[in-house]
Amino acid sequence: MPKKIAIIIDDNVVEARPGQTILQAAEQAGVYIPRLCWMKPLEPFGGCRLCTVKVNGRYQTACTQPAADGQIIENETEEIRAFRRSLLDMLFVEGNHYCMFCEKSGDCELQAQAYRLGIDAPKLPYLFPDRQVDASHPDIMVDHNRCILCARCVRASQDLDGKNVFQFVGRGAHKRVAVNAEANLGETNASVRDGAISMCPVGALIKKGTGYHTPIGQRSYDHTPIGADIEKKAEG
Ligand code: FES
Repeated sequence: MPKKIAIIIDDNVVEARPGQTILQAAEQAGVYIPRLCWMKPLEPFGGCRLCTVKVNGRYQTACTQPAADGQIIENETEEIRAFRRSLLDMLFVEGNHYCMFCEKSGDCELQAQAYRLGIDAPKLPYLFPDRQVDASHPDIMVDHNRCILCARCVRASQDLDGKNVFQFVGRGAHKRVAVNAEANLGETNASVRDGAISMCPVGALIKKGTGYHTPIGQRSYDHTPIGADIEKKAEG
């Protein structure tokens, strides 16, 4: 018999199965922990740190930290929410995110996380970096202005599509996603049906010819906040 694990998230007892991460156990119990780089069925990456919680008083990423019996976890405290707002602020000012002109608006997870955490405008100054747009592929566009380096496309291309179209190059502030080490996307075997394309949480990888098929006002997060589907489970 597998040992039962009980963790406490914001004063609520949550049961976990051995091998589950804190994020998975929380989700199963209808507790939403914000995330950007984590997505089923990809392996956890621990890159964005938006899922940061306090575990027995220490900061940990819930998407990578295994649940262990007796953990006391802080998720929705004002301290953690402020930490997550700072991370989102940095993501917004490090790129060029013009939400009102972006086809992903309303379906964008970065935008939705900002709304969930009550961000109207970043507190940090915009950096307005000079980034490229790659429209060389007949069906897909890459807009590096909107990339948040979550690595979903990198992992999905390798692990789901078996292609390795996307990789990281550079370090620190110069780190970016590259296409087959500096080629244009049109020179690769990327397909519009690849998991790598549909898993982009923002508008960095966009399918051409589908613009505004879903009207504004009918998109994923136009009426319900991100995470509401998970929290519903706890109500039901
Ligand atoms: Fe956990 Fe990104 S979702 S680090």
